[in-house]
Amino acid sequence: MTKAAITGWGSALPDKVLTNADFAARLDTTDEWIVERTGMRERHVGGTTRGLAIEAGQAALRRAGLGGADIDLVIVASTTPDQTLPAVSATVHERLGCRGGAFDVNAACAGFTYSLVLADSLIATGARRALVIGSDTLSRITDYEDRATAILFGDGAGAVVVEGGARDDLILAYDLGADGTAAPLLFAELGGYIEMDGREIFRRAVRAEVDSIGKVFAAAGCHAEDIALFVPHQANVRIIEAVNERVGIPMERTVVVLDRIGNTSAGSIPFGLCAAVEAGRVDEGDLVLLSGFGAGMTWASTIIRWGRRGVA
Ligand code: ACO
Repeated sequence: MTKAAITGWGSALPDKVLTNADFAARLDTTDEWIVERTGMRERHVGGTTRGLAIEAGQAALRRAGLGGADIDLVIVASTTPDQTLPAVSATVHERLGCRGGAFDVNAACAGFTYSLVLADSLIATGARRALVIGSDTLSRITDYEDRATAILFGDGAGAVVVEGGARDDLILAYDLGADGTAAPLLFAELGGYIEMDGREIFRRAVRAEVDSIGKVFAAAGCHAEDIALFVPHQANVRIIEAVNERVGIPMERTVVVLDRIGNTSAGSIPFGLCAAVEAGRVDEGDLVLLSGFGAGMTWASTIIRWGRRGVA
């Protein structure tokens, strides 16, 4: 079984920025309310899911020192493909000149973590190098007349290159979950906007993440103190704080980027991971916890070991 490591990372945001002041000028809301209840200040909107995915994927390839032809597996996690057919991943595969297979994963905001686990498994059984991308353009399914949801969402993407032939295992443990009874709490009909019961999603999100993180700690035989960096899904800073308090991870070791990008769904965890790596917050050998939840509900947590490219 081949071991794997993340050897490249990149992200992408559209240029247009929506600030809290922009919402306060149009809706019955204020900058104070949005900051206090969500932690958000700005989000980027525009572009396409495939365009952002390609840009983030290109950046990750550059970082890894690879070309598209070196990749033999493309996975794109997304809830907002630009078209029903074909998959976003097929376009990314073609535009970046990749080889091998390509498919999309829709597990909402947990999609990137699901995809990373999949990539690791496929590398263990024969794939050599995977490009794993989370990309979403939630602005296309956001009702900008609804103050309860309009302020939350943004567009963005993040990507990693996962290469086989590493010294250590990439994934120490993972937990994937789903609960379809929560479907009416957060959904968008085909052609419609996101509708949600924010309060109930908040409650269930905290419960699901805490439970899921407990499972990966137990499976990996590690504790909160062993985690060098926690990259949670970026839905609300109060959700992140509530989870941290319960699992015992301090905010200093936690990535928060929602203040400048809002909730970018499957893009949020890889975007946060890239930002933290670029800021020098992760060293070789560090344990990094990724955990998120989304519509479904779905949730996913994994503990990964950073770096140690090594030789096979
Ligand atoms: N500005 C001012 N007031 C507002 C706003 C706003 N933008 N939005 C709602 N309110 C009002 C409500 O109408 C309500 O007023 P009322 O008391 O007169 O009825 C009051 O604020 C409190 O509403 P709550 O919904 O209880 O506010 P809460 O503190 O729970 O914050 C929020 C709402 C931010 C939506 C929060 O519940 C949340 O973040 N939930 C989780 C949402 C989430 O994570 N969604 C996505 C997950 S999956 C994915 O990522 C796609």
